[in-house]
Amino acid sequence: MTDPLGPVVRPRRLRRTPALRRLVAETSLEARQLVLPAFVREGISEPQAISSMPGVVQHTRDSLKKAAAEAAELGLGGIMLFGVPESKDAAGTGAIDPDGILNVAIADVKAEVGDALPVMADLCLDEFTDHGHCGVLNASGAVDNDLTLAVYAEMARAQAAAGVDVVGPSGMMDGQVAVIREALDLVGAPEVAILAYSAKYASAFYGPFREAVDSSLQGDRRTYQQDSGNVIEGVREALLDVAEGADMVMVKPALAYLDVIRAVREAVDVPVAAYNISGEYSMVEAAAANGWIDREAAIVETLLSIRRAGADVILTYWAAEAAGLLRR
Ligand code: PBG
Repeated sequence: MTDPLGPVVRPRRLRRTPALRRLVAETSLEARQLVLPAFVREGISEPQAISSMPGVVQHTRDSLKKAAAEAAELGLGGIMLFGVPESKDAAGTGAIDPDGILNVAIADVKAEVGDALPVMADLCLDEFTDHGHCGVLNASGAVDNDLTLAVYAEMARAQAAAGVDVVGPSGMMDGQVAVIREALDLVGAPEVAILAYSAKYASAFYGPFREAVDSSLQGDRRTYQQDSGNVIEGVREALLDVAEGADMVMVKPALAYLDVIRAVREAVDVPVAAYNISGEYSMVEAAAANGWIDREAAIVETLLSIRRAGADVILTYWAAEAAGLLRR
């Protein structure tokens, strides 16, 4: 039966103009929801390009301060710092050294932005170990969970002393959040928050990050990061982290795990972050550089999809640029 007047129900009415579409938009994307991950490398005098991540650099201490000031100016949600030390060793000692690159960078950025921008730091050993694993190894070469926890506690104390606002444990060791919370509280830093990388998957999309932190990983991370097909396990990890004292939880990567973001969002009562990681960034950049996709539209669509899946906060290398795009 066709009505001579045509359909009565016409969803297109609400799509007719940009203003109508804006009125009924279901998902918001704002600068305050975006966190900029930033790399700072020890011992360099000029920022170094990362060839697999066009547009992203390893900062000098000075250029990092400028990037942080700009992030604050743009109203971003925060900056997440990663350190690239000049020399690495089996124990990752650069991570706990108060003069280590990440710890001095935290202090630099904190002095630059104060409380205007939350200063976050990756709390993990892979940037600092010569074998590239997120923890220390035992005699048989396996990543030793409990030995690693003691180093994470030390790292948390060093980051707190440097003035960090939020620590981001990303090593997927069992019990890491509880140990870090206790370490922070015992040094009189109960205000330092924990953004736990809770559901972190062993992913091929971390590839470009390895160049960003000069990591030559021996083997893979499958004994601590999760298998791609598991969603219940990701929810369990998030619930455990909340029980251990995580103030926020994270799912990582984002795009291949949008269902995990949704499941975690529904399971926990803390803010959920998602990390739009290096490989996700580089795929879009590479396709756009070839003229195969509209770069800016792809960026906004990518970030919206992660918000729509349920992420309250997104870590993205496009944070500063996206904040600019959103202003227009
Ligand atoms: C671990 C860490 C990694 C990333 C963030 N924190 C690497 C890994 O676990 O292999 C990856 C981020 C990205 O790929 O953009 N310190």
